[in-house]
Amino acid sequence: MEEKIRQLLSEVESFTATVKDDVESFRLKYLSKKGIIPSLFGEMKNVAADERKNFGQLVNDLKNKAEEKLNHFREMLEDSSEEKNIPDLTLPAEPHGLGARHPVSIVRERILEIFSHIGFTVEYGPEIEDDWHNFTALNFPENHPARDMQDTFFIKTGESSRDDIALRTHTSSVQVRVMERQQPPIRILAPGRVYRNEAISARAHCFFHQVEGLYVDEKVSFADLKQTLLYFAKEMFDADTKIRLRPSYFPFTEPSAEMDVSCNICGGKGCNVCKYTGWLEILGCGMVDPNVLENCKIDSKKYSGFAFGMGIERIAMLKYNVNDLRLFSENDVRFLKQFTSA
Ligand code: PHE
Repeated sequence: MEEKIRQLLSEVESFTATVKDDVESFRLKYLSKKGIIPSLFGEMKNVAADERKNFGQLVNDLKNKAEEKLNHFREMLEDSSEEKNIPDLTLPAEPHGLGARHPVSIVRERILEIFSHIGFTVEYGPEIEDDWHNFTALNFPENHPARDMQDTFFIKTGESSRDDIALRTHTSSVQVRVMERQQPPIRILAPGRVYRNEAISARAHCFFHQVEGLYVDEKVSFADLKQTLLYFAKEMFDADTKIRLRPSYFPFTEPSAEMDVSCNICGGKGCNVCKYTGWLEILGCGMVDPNVLENCKIDSKKYSGFAFGMGIERIAMLKYNVNDLRLFSENDVRFLKQFTSA
């Protein structure tokens, strides 16, 4: 018996393989369930007790040697296998997964581009603001409802409302910062994220994005405001777009207006997007209140200005016919990938 095992051992030791099939038949012969080595282990019980230890040792050696050989040739033939080293050049190329730009970014960039053609530059400011820049300098009366808890996320409320710190509710705060550090002519856009304490729905969110504009110089008139916004509307939508201004109220502009554009979906005939009015509201605007200029140390006798502000999501909804504001902040790839080529 011992002789037989030694013979098997030398057989295993001299084994070599040149193709994968050799390795597989080696495995079947020696190591598979019905192979020689498991059957030798099965014979253990028939071996005389005093020889059992020696026998077991020999069969173990045989098993280790066989496994070593198996692994060695498996690895060797795997590594040198030709299919592995030479790529199949006839396979189609792996597609490059191009990302898509977010619709809010696309529309923001377009707005900035349109106004850059008529000399507006871009300014940024902090999202956490003090009461002065978000409210007081903008002529909000002390107890104005917009300062109320319902609209504003306060971070810190001071003894008087003048000490409050809050998330900015509009980017008009950036306009104040620019006017404080720069004398006219001023022609800027302030894009950015703003926050309002509103219940989240298809039409409202607790944060959204705005672009606000400010133009201050000598003899700036309401006609300049109108012409600038008409130019913008035609560029943003299409050349046939009409605008309409309705009187409105903002603490920081006087007079103030809300601007509608003719519905680009039905061409003004009436549809469910424009609620059969033919018009879509897109922004607020007005002539900068002299109090605001004075608050920022700009001479309101010498200078006048106009300002406007719009929600980027609102424009994106109209441009891409999106009917739920929440889609812009949910990061659902099925929604976002539709903008790949935009
Ligand atoms: N700040 C206003 C808002 O957030 C928009 C606006 C800006 C209106 C400038 C008039 C002038 O709603």
